[in-house]
Amino acid sequence: MWKPAERIRFEPSSGRIPSTEEARASQLFSPVQLGPLKLEHRTWVPAMVPWRSNEDGEVNEDVIQWYARFARGKPGAIVIEATGIRDVPSGPLLRIGDDRYIGGLQRLTRAVNEASGGHTRLLIQIIDFLRIRRRPEPRTFFERHLALTPQLLERAGLQGASEAQAREALLGLGVEGWSRVLDPRDLQSLQYGARESVNDLHLAHIRSLPQELPGLFAQAARRARDSGFDGVELHYAHAYTMASFLSTTNQRTDGYGGSREARVRLPLEVYQAVRAEVGSDYAVGCRFLAEECIEGGTAVDDSTWYGVQFAIAGMDFLSTSRGGKFDDAKQPSVGQAAYPYTGRSGYECMPQYLSDQRGPFGRNRAATASIRRAIREAGCTTPVVCTGGVHNFEFAEAMLAAGDCDVVGTARQSLADPDWALKTLLGRADAVRLCEYTNYCEGLDQKHKQVTCQLWDREALDEPGIRLSHDGKRRLVAPEWKDAPASLGTGSSQ
Ligand SMILES: Cc1cc2nc3c(=O)[nH]c(=O)nc-3n(C[C@H](O)[C@H](O)[C@H](O)COP(=O)(O)O)c2cc1C
Ligand code: SF4
Repeated sequence: MWKPAERIRFEPSSGRIPSTEEARASQLFSPVQLGPLKLEHRTWVPAMVPWRSNEDGEVNEDVIQWYARFARGKPGAIVIEATGIRDVPSGPLLRIGDDRYIGGLQRLTRAVNEASGGHTRLLIQIIDFLRIRRRPEPRTFFERHLALTPQLLERAGLQGASEAQAREALLGLGVEGWSRVLDPRDLQSLQYGARESVNDLHLAHIRSLPQELPGLFAQAARRARDSGFDGVELHYAHAYTMASFLSTTNQRTDGYGGSREARVRLPLEVYQAVRAEVGSDYAVGCRFLAEECIEGGTAVDDSTWYGVQFAIAGMDFLSTSRGGKFDDAKQPSVGQAAYPYTGRSGYECMPQYLSDQRGPFGRNRAATASIRRAIREAGCTTPVVCTGGVHNFEFAEAMLAAGDCDVVGTARQSLADPDWALKTLLGRADAVRLCEYTNYCEGLDQKHKQVTCQLWDREALDEPGIRLSHDGKRRLVAPEWKDAPASLGTGSSQ
């Protein structure tokens, strides 16, 4: 992953430990309404892909155990990982692209409900993404992938050559020659692997995204409702299709790109189709970027405006993230695909303990606060979820007290200790296992390996009944809170 030059070391801390009485009276542990959906607390586990599903994208026992463990910590809400709206092979990512997924997803919603004693509301993040190929061997690229255009042959001085000769000659040009003769898109495909973009209007399936996506998202949302989820989060963030429509890099000329009014058009049309399908009594919101964090990318002025449009349109909540783009991703090794969390924008999304002056804690707070302020000024009460580097009560409560957000998301802190909020509520914040922001988990995610936390994945490996990773070396689920109060049975948090 990209690292800032300063490399200043930041240590997480427990902050001030509240008593049970203080925690119970706090904003963090007060209820909040997300449109038709009431959360008991303002604690939120944002979407995190743990690579637990199978090649068919189904719910299996590992998926159930993973989410049930978060649910035993009784947060206000859990958002299930980015789940594909199309029924196409996409590795071990969960899918919701066909009705046959409903049975498995129902088992998941029932398991979470039971594990939290009915205290945690469960949402699912639904996603569309475009095709990305692995970085090819140069020989494969020149022999099989590269289209030989007259312009390319002219630039390379190969007009008279046969196809086989031209391909061999191009391969022989080497790195410097490739930079000279290939057009930027081909060069990118050679160096990073080919990646489709919303700007590829010459491809019929990219041209038709605005016609296709509203229906796909709407059907996925209907399946989510039928599966027993309390709401859906439309994934409009990071490197994926909908975020690419919102991005300043979207230069489509079909009325869905260019100006910000045109860029927000499809995200609004998708939302309207979803709303029409699931009705007004079902929670629908989106996750979008407060800042893209790439050169010339969407900044707070645009995202503030987007937030207001989403709120006016009637979304029940807005959750912010930042960065996580392909545009500045590191070059992958041959045979690997680019990963959108390896550049500076990736760092902004999941900052590490070695950081710049701003540090890894609360990096998305100021931008989210601007978005929320603009939404309130527009007369909307839409709740806003802010995530990024939050790991203690004091910090979370300060964000709420300042009016920077209405709900506090904690991804890696919840992974490090799924009971952190429950411990805090019970006056035991001293017992919280604090995330160290090492990004060991993110490294596993990058390799598409089962995600675990280094603070617990080697603990009690011989515990009866625990499930281990494919290599047999790591436990897949955080250990239970050993000295939890005896009174703490399911459903005793409030
Ligand atoms: C392993 C892992 C997987 C993630 N998967 C998703 C995802 O599916 N969807 C999403 O919107 N964000 C995803 N994120 C980003 C988190 O939701 C969150 O925004 C980010 O980790 C910063 O919050 P934190 O500092 O509380 O960890 C993921 C993060 C991690 C560590
Ligand atoms: S591995 Fe654990 S401690 Fe390290 S960043 Fe991930 S959640 Fe935090």
